[in-house]
Amino acid sequence: MATYDLVVIGTGPGGYVCAVRAAQLGMKVAVVEKNATLGGTCLNVGCMPSKALLHASEMFEEAAHSFAKMGVSVSEPKLELPAMMNFKQQGIDGNVKGVEFLMKKNKIDVLKGTGKILGTGKVEVSADGKSQVVETKSIVIATGSDIARLKGIEIDEKRIVSSTGALSLDKVPGKLLVVGAGVIGLELGSVWKRLGAEVVVVEFLDRIMPGMDGEIAKQFQRILEKQGFAFKLGAKVTAVDTSGKTLKATIEPAAGGAAETLEADVVLVCIGRVPYTDGLGLKEAGVALDNRGRVQIDPHFATSLKGVYAIGDVVAGPMLAHKAEDEGVAVAEIIAGQAGHVNYDVIPGVVYTTPEVSSVGKTEEELKQAGVAYTVGKFPFTANGRSKVNQTTDGFVKILADAKTDRVLGVHIIGREAGEMIHEACVLMEFGGSAEDLARTCHAHPTRSEAIKEAALAVGKRAIHM
Ligand code: FAD
Ligand code: NAI
Repeated sequence: MATYDLVVIGTGPGGYVCAVRAAQLGMKVAVVEKNATLGGTCLNVGCMPSKALLHASEMFEEAAHSFAKMGVSVSEPKLELPAMMNFKQQGIDGNVKGVEFLMKKNKIDVLKGTGKILGTGKVEVSADGKSQVVETKSIVIATGSDIARLKGIEIDEKRIVSSTGALSLDKVPGKLLVVGAGVIGLELGSVWKRLGAEVVVVEFLDRIMPGMDGEIAKQFQRILEKQGFAFKLGAKVTAVDTSGKTLKATIEPAAGGAAETLEADVVLVCIGRVPYTDGLGLKEAGVALDNRGRVQIDPHFATSLKGVYAIGDVVAGPMLAHKAEDEGVAVAEIIAGQAGHVNYDVIPGVVYTTPEVSSVGKTEEELKQAGVAYTVGKFPFTANGRSKVNQTTDGFVKILADAKTDRVLGVHIIGREAGEMIHEACVLMEFGGSAEDLARTCHAHPTRSEAIKEAALAVGKRAIHM
């Protein structure tokens, strides 16, 4: 029987990063993966394919609408969807191969099959009707999440799709109905909008992107509407009739009232994700779940069963790849006897639309609710030189600082490249920095990041270019 120091179940960003860190720390490690390829949701049907299509569709739109104003004359761009899908697949393959390489480099055994926990120190791996049991000192559950489903609406991944189907449509839908104005709906809605679909988004709440700073979300919605998105807020899809050539969706006001029917070629259901624990044998093994089906852990990622830990989408917290990765590193260090740690107050979030939206720390609503006195500094990209010359002036930077100490509590950016720009705020906040620290840090000119410095100056009411 093979024996290990650590067996990690799942090879998404949580699992494979945990395995690499554990191997670096001298452990003998195996990963178990039931999927044909390594990399989990993120590499295969999540972060990476969606970003490839966001990039390609953005280039398509730029060629169609932005080149001419810069004096770059090209003939009207033509969409070759199979070639675009091939571009996406090449990106997936490259990243998956990268994870395979990391497993080899770090001498990590890859056990293909479904992992089941038999008890402390024992994992059964089954594939193609055969199974083997491996022994291990520690186990990390990193089995991720799955799509949340809408009762009575069956996803066939052709006409009624989840994000997985929406990443592989074989033609541009004339009309795309998106259920849920969260990250997936707005990112994948953007892809198909740019490629020519008419996009209607139905959202249960009376706002888009719950959890995002309200002022930023309002501006985001306005910009998306200018791009042609239509929103039906405070509404829910209760049924989809698939009998005809076009789908007929029944939409009801969330607060009750008369239903209406909307026609669509494709319906994308993206109403959140749920933890994935099928087949792991957790109940029999004695690993407790919380009331939302997530694996329950203590502050050191330990589950209720000795020697078994859990990280990533399958536990509480934001369902983000970088959160899973950081937890993977932290738990490997804890198992090795070190002081692994994740600072949950400084986990950035990015929506990769055009413009991008990024944030870290508290929103204005959260500060109000917690009764924290704060100051706000804002700076629009319309007043930023680089944005002006590039004619990409949508959006603004917003900094929230503690009114007494000036410590930065939250930074929110809507604008081009916001996803790259947020990280100086993350570093600042990790070091407990103040708006004044940021305001006194020299920023290269001309860059969009100067808008962050200006927003920090605006906290002290002394922005220069406004
Ligand atoms: P996963 O990546 O879900 O990996 C879990 C792995 O475990 C899978 O490979 C699965 O096959 C395997 N597994 C499950 N059960 C077993 C078992 N019993 N035995 C063996 N193997 C098993 N996050 C971001 O931060 N940025 C983004 O831009 C982003 N974009 C996204 C876009 C889409 C369309 C989607 C759906 C998600 C996106 N996410 C993004 C979220 C991100 O993909 C997840 O947060 C991340 O993948 C979670 O990592 P994980 O390691 O916890 O789990
Ligand atoms: P989400 O939680 O971001 O958004 C779901 C939306 O659907 C919410 O606005 C919710 O109010 C709404 N909703 C719920 N039930 C509804 C109903 N019956 N009718 C209409 N609206 C309804 O979930 P989403 O977009 O599915 O994404 C899942 C997760 O994947 C994200 O939360 C995020 O963690 C991750 N992700 C991250 C990305 C990134 O970091 N850029 C990109 C894509 C996904």
